[in-house]
Amino acid sequence: MKKTVCVIFGGASSEHEVSLMSSASIIRNLDAEKFDVITLGITKDGRWILFEGTADEIENNTWLSHPDNRPAFISPDPATSGLVVLEKDGSCTVRKIDVIFPVLHGKNGEDGTIQGLFQLSGIPYVGCDTAASAICMDKAVAHSLLASSNIEQAHYLWFYADRYEADGDKIRNKIEARLNFPVFVKPANAGSSVGISKVNAPEDLDAAIRLASEHDSKIVVEEGIVGQEVECAVLGNRGKSIASMVGEIGAAAEFYDYDDKYKNGAAQLFIPARLEPEIMEEIRRIAVRAYNLLGCDGLSRVDFFVTTKGRKIILNEINTLPGFTSISMYPKLWAATGVPYSELLERLIECAFSREDA
Ligand SMILES: Nc1ncnc2c1ncn2[C@@H]1O[C@H](COP(=O)(O)OP(=O)(O)O)[C@@H](O)[C@H]1O
Ligand SMILES: [Mg+2]
Repeated sequence: MKKTVCVIFGGASSEHEVSLMSSASIIRNLDAEKFDVITLGITKDGRWILFEGTADEIENNTWLSHPDNRPAFISPDPATSGLVVLEKDGSCTVRKIDVIFPVLHGKNGEDGTIQGLFQLSGIPYVGCDTAASAICMDKAVAHSLLASSNIEQAHYLWFYADRYEADGDKIRNKIEARLNFPVFVKPANAGSSVGISKVNAPEDLDAAIRLASEHDSKIVVEEGIVGQEVECAVLGNRGKSIASMVGEIGAAAEFYDYDDKYKNGAAQLFIPARLEPEIMEEIRRIAVRAYNLLGCDGLSRVDFFVTTKGRKIILNEINTLPGFTSISMYPKLWAATGVPYSELLERLIECAFSREDA
């Protein structure tokens, strides 16, 4: 029987535009014989809108001016099991949903907040639950948990931005004492390289910390790693997941920044990565191990560095809702591993129905 999939796109996040691109690709690739698609847009300021137009309008960001748009929201009441729509005549109607596919990146979409609502609604949904999403989103929390399981990461420390305001000297001294420069200063919760700086010398720390503080109340500082940047796509529910081939990013700029990722297409992808086969096997093993440790379901992209000196494998981060455009690493890695885009979407939807708590 045909299933109704609710694709949620946009989001109150700095990665709103990326979501529009990812969602348009997903909508176009959902098999129309198997799925009816309802598209629910979230504006940058957090309004929820039932949108009944095309993937093109989402992609070129004109969806908000569609004349049929009306407010709608997912009911937290499991008896509703769907979307409550506020019709133009003032009445309310309900659209039943079989499964939710959130295609939201970053804050409010990838950090567990909206997953909490899905959980309450009782409707199966694609991807990680509230806890796993929140853990992976917060680089300080993810680092701490992975460190306690002996998964190798860059040396790091973290602090709250208000502690820096109160005692900046002490924190800067600690950074200098514990980490070798250059370091990367990051907001603990952000994404798409927003608010991240590479800092070559101690005197530039202050500006970088202040920039990161504009995006989050928690700051992470990491030692810079010199090496290749590689990524592995993981698919499946916790304990039953599999890893894709490993891909590599050849960055154009100082580091792989927002513009490289989404605008100028400057970053070059190598699939498979230019690595020794045994290193790639080890990366796939670590990716699945980290995925299970942090309690991921459905999908995640696990990002690593491989150091030039010593060929050490260093985990960078886990993205629970990685970019999903036709040129994004996650779907490309699966395509190269033998799972084409449309089949990948079906498998993700199957995972939503088969997870432990569904
Ligand atoms: N410790 C590090 N050493 C070297 N490069 C880094 C380090 N941390 C981040 N980078 C560079 O910055 C980019 C963005 O950092 P990342 O932690 O992945 O943040 P985001 O969550 O925004 O993707 C990475 O893709 C990489 O190019
Ligand atoms: Mg990243």
